[in-house]
Order: sequence, then C-alpha cells, then structure tokens
Amino acid sequence: MRILGRGRIKTVLVTGGAGYIGSHICVELLDAGLEVLVIDNLSNSSQEALNRVEKITGKTVLFYQINLQDKARVKTVFETHTIDAVIHLAGLKSVGDSCRLPLEYYQNNISSTLVLLEMLEQFSVRNIVFSSSATVYGDPATVPVTEQFPLRATNPYGRTKLMIEEILRDVANASHIKVVLLRYFNPIGAHESGLIGEAPNGTPNNLLPYISQVAMGQRDKVLIFGGDYPTIDGTGVRDYIHVVDLAKGHTKALQEIVGNGSKGESCQVYNLGTGHGHSVIEVIKAFEQACGHKIIYEIVDRRSGDVAECYANPALANEKLNWRAEKELSEMVMDAWHWQTQNPKGYKID
Ligand code: WQD
Repeated sequence: MRILGRGRIKTVLVTGGAGYIGSHICVELLDAGLEVLVIDNLSNSSQEALNRVEKITGKTVLFYQINLQDKARVKTVFETHTIDAVIHLAGLKSVGDSCRLPLEYYQNNISSTLVLLEMLEQFSVRNIVFSSSATVYGDPATVPVTEQFPLRATNPYGRTKLMIEEILRDVANASHIKVVLLRYFNPIGAHESGLIGEAPNGTPNNLLPYISQVAMGQRDKVLIFGGDYPTIDGTGVRDYIHVVDLAKGHTKALQEIVGNGSKGESCQVYNLGTGHGHSVIEVIKAFEQACGHKIIYEIVDRRSGDVAECYANPALANEKLNWRAEKELSEMVMDAWHWQTQNPKGYKID
C-alpha cells in the first residue's frame, strides 16, 4: 500500500510517537515508505521505544523531545522540515487521573493541540489525523456504536477528546486543512517482534497490562471492577483491537485523505474497532491460554465512570478506509504476553 504514489505525503509528524500506540504507528508509516518525525515529551513514554522502532524497520526516526505547549520549540521543527501530515496522539490519557486533575488535563491536552494547529496554519500543513477515543460516546444506550451515536463524555479526559474533535471540525470548516478523527476502542497487544509494547508507568489503569503483570507474578491478582453489569457474565464488555490493526488504520486514513484530494469532506470520523465485544473474564481466560497458567482474580466493586458495554460498528471504516481489524483476541493476548516476557520491566534498562 503506497501513500507516496501521489507524492503528496512524504513526511509525517507523529506527536506522542514514542508512546504505546504512537510507536506502532511509526512502524507502519516507515514500512509504508514515509519519513517520520516524532515530537514527544517522554512524560509517559521512553525513547527506547523509538530505538526499537528503528530496529524493527531498519529506518530512522527523527525525534524531538519537546513539550507541545512550548510554541517556540515546536516552531523550530516546522521550520526545519517540510511536514505533509500530522498524526496527533500526544496527550494525558488516564480517566481516573483526569477526574482528580481536570485543569491539568484541559491545560495540557487542549493547549498543546492549539499550538499544533497554529503551526499547521502557519506552515500550510494540510492534513491531520487525530487520536480520539470511544470514550466520547460515554455510556451508549445500545451497542454496537456507530459514528452517529450521541457524544457525551463522562469524564474530563473524554471531554478533552470531544473538545479537540470540535476544534478540529471548526478548523477544517474554516481552512483547507483536512481532518480525520479516529475513535479508538480498546487497543491491546504488541508488535509480533516483541520489541515494542505497552509499558505503563506505575500501576496500570488499563486491564491488559494489569493482567500481564499478574501473569508475570509481579502482582497478586486482577481486581475485576464489577461483576453485576447486565452483560454475558456480569463483567464489563469492551471492543479489544490489536494495536497493529489500529496502527494500520492510520496509514489507511492518510491514504484516504490523499486519495480524496480536494473533493473529500474536510472532516471525517471513523470508529476503529473489531465490532466484537469481550468481557473481562473472557479476556482473562484468553490470557490464561496464552501464558499457560491460571490468573487469579477477585470481583470487587465497580470503578466509577465505567460503562457496562461498549463496542464498535466499524462498517464506515471498513468501507471508506478499506480497513478492517484482522487479528482475533487470542493473537492479541499472545502478542501481549510475548512482549511482556521479553521485556519484564517494559523499556526500563537495568
Ligand atoms: C477495560 C475493562 C474495566 C482494569 C479506557 C479509556 C479509553 C482508553 C482505554 C486511553 C473495563 C475492566 C480494568 C482493571 C478491570 N484510554 N478493568 N480491572 O476503561 O474501557 O477505556 O482505557 O486511550 O479512552 O476510556 O479500558 O482497560 O481501563 O478497562 O476489571 O484492573 O476492564 O472495568 O470493564 P476502558 P480499561
């Protein structure tokens, strides 16, 4: 799949490109023959991830350790390179933390986006893909969820995603900038090489890295937040998508922008999910198959802000982006386990 074919996207800036999802996107972009720049402040990521990206692809990533709110330094990147497209992932992303520190989330996530958009306008960068989230749907009345569902974030983190979507929509309507909003469901797993993967700082908020650390014996048991939801087994149901499938959705989004040229809509939105839901217990059982031993868990009270069920209707992305999630849950947890066993301490080097 060539994006270069039309010669209009050669260099892509990935903000947050040293992170879990960002590093997997960098691999796909480099494999597609694109030049990749990364801006990341390393607040929740490691430069080692980019070293691994270079090892996987045999290509170079140009990395700038910059806080996106630092306009002067961000500007030097746009002055130094001709950037054809931006994939914007940089931002704080913990639901729980956002409830405790709302102002930090609004300041960081919104201000950094405004700095970035000012640069796009100043340097005539015409294309941006934004890392949004299914969390903008809040607690959907029914599932699966389509892009036309009501948007009602239920926490500051989700509200920053929603606000940024609206800012981008307004900018797209007022300028020549083309925007693609990608609403991620629950990315898990790791690149088949086991060289890059999810390496959260401190206690994982998300299910998969927590299960992984229990499977490694680094934690005692998985606490399942709620066993009384109206779901198949009472535990929360989510749309888990392999992070590599998610990453491939981004190169498809860039291809769609280029393919449509000036005639496409200025702002498109797509769900990136598998279209299937799995419960917490189903994920734990799948992980036991991957690691070959039991995983202890205890069902405890619900976590505030959680919803019972949320999974995608990905038909629009399937059709318009010619993209489909290919990997099953068993492959996701196998790749997650492979990464974890190869990197017990994530990217921390002893
Ligand atoms: C999944 C399921 C929990 C941990 C959030 C954000 C989303 C994205 C992914 C950033 C739920 C249960 C979890 C645990 C558990 N964030 N769980 N014990 O909440 O669906 O989505 O993270 O990009 O935007 O909203 O993901 O992995 O935290 O939870 O029982 O220790 O696992 O209740 O049902 P979530 P999650």
